[in-house]
Amino acid sequence: MRRLLIAANWKMHAPPAGWDAPDSPYRAREDIDVIVFATFLDLQRCIAAGLRTGAQCARPEECGAFTGDICMEMVKKIGCSYVLCGHSDRRQFHGETDAFVAEQAKAAVKVGLIPIVCIGENAEERKAKKTEEVLRRQLKPLKFSADIILAYEPVWAISRGNGNTSAASADEAERVHAFIRSLLPSPLQQKIRILYGGSMKAANAAELLGKENIDGGLVGNASLKSEEFGKIVEAAAAMRK
Ligand code: PGA
Repeated sequence: MRRLLIAANWKMHAPPAGWDAPDSPYRAREDIDVIVFATFLDLQRCIAAGLRTGAQCARPEECGAFTGDICMEMVKKIGCSYVLCGHSDRRQFHGETDAFVAEQAKAAVKVGLIPIVCIGENAEERKAKKTEEVLRRQLKPLKFSADIILAYEPVWAISRGNGNTSAASADEAERVHAFIRSLLPSPLQQKIRILYGGSMKAANAAELLGKENIDGGLVGNASLKSEEFGKIVEAAAAMRK
């Protein structure tokens, strides 16, 4: 059975109230994986407080002349275990390409980080029925290994603080997750975890996480309220009881 993973993606927000409380839902636990993706500025205090953490991005090159960036080795050295690669915000606002994202994932594995590679179609691509084509294209340059995690994040379902909170239905998400799994090399097909991201919240977490091919969630907006995030974590933990 693939271990469930719930990740909080705080994006460009400070850690939410209650993040370091003794009973904080952001803390690592035995039954499922819980991870926090904080800003670079907040990572160290999250690590010091005992949370399992990841960086929201990092460059694939070794340290060098890249003003404003950090490299995978730095992320590893401060004590992170994970790194997000190719989140749609990065693809959209920083021009990260499929090839660049594949380089990031490769560099992450090389230094001992677990990359969570984000893929997913946007609204126009979905409308044009190009979801499968887009996913194939995004996955093509990736070198798969047991250390990689994927996150299917349909861009149209991601809440942007603009009122959009319509997640993919659990059935639609499951269909796409099964398709993504079918593209994985057969020895790894049942091993690689595929998370869902895009308006996951307390109200829909159990239904999404109950699907065979959905192995966890990458949670943005709903991870900014500790109580709401705690409900998602508990919904995931209940699946494993
Ligand atoms: P959301 O974001 O949960 O706010 O839709 C998910 C993500 O962008 O990772």
